[in-house]
Amino acid sequence: MRVTRFLTAAGLALAFAVTMSVSSLAQAKTDEDYDKLMKAVGAANGAMRGAAKEMNAAGISAEATKMVALFKDVQGFWTERKNTEAAEWAAAAMKHADAIAKASGPEAIMGAMKELGGTCQTCHAKYREGAPGAFTIKKG
Ligand code: HEC
Repeated sequence: MRVTRFLTAAGLALAFAVTMSVSSLAQAKTDEDYDKLMKAVGAANGAMRGAAKEMNAAGISAEATKMVALFKDVQGFWTERKNTEAAEWAAAAMKHADAIAKASGPEAIMGAMKELGGTCQTCHAKYREGAPGAFTIKKG
């Protein structure tokens, strides 16, 4: 009886863990998924800027690497919504984040960070509306 319960609990925990890891890998599809994705991008970007202030090259690279993965998901989202322009901007952001991750020396890092920042702004200007805390997707 006890053993059965334990096995059931363990089985549930395992099923839950599997579901969680699968869902975190799944392509963002809904507006809510996208919002989470952008919040994660914002967090990584903030952490990257913090690391840059501390001249922490390893920290900068680690956050930029997170953004490469996040923007891949962003690109997939826009591709699925058949928005070629936004998908291209996402791909550009991914490229700039990758350049930051691989750059050595403050000048190369700062240059790539500036390029990345420009890409965020370009896309937000056209496809983001609302105010901080309640941003949504604009039709464009
Ligand atoms: C391809 C287009 C695109 C690119 C590139 C992009 N964003 Fe966004 N972002 C959006 C859209 C659309 C929204 C509004 C949708 C939402 O927030 O749900 C948004 C929302 C956000 C939000 C608000 C999230 C919230 O609701 O609190 C943050 C923060 C953010 N982006 C950060 C960034 C940063 C930092 C970059 C660049 C490193 C970036 N984004 C690049 C399209 C983009």
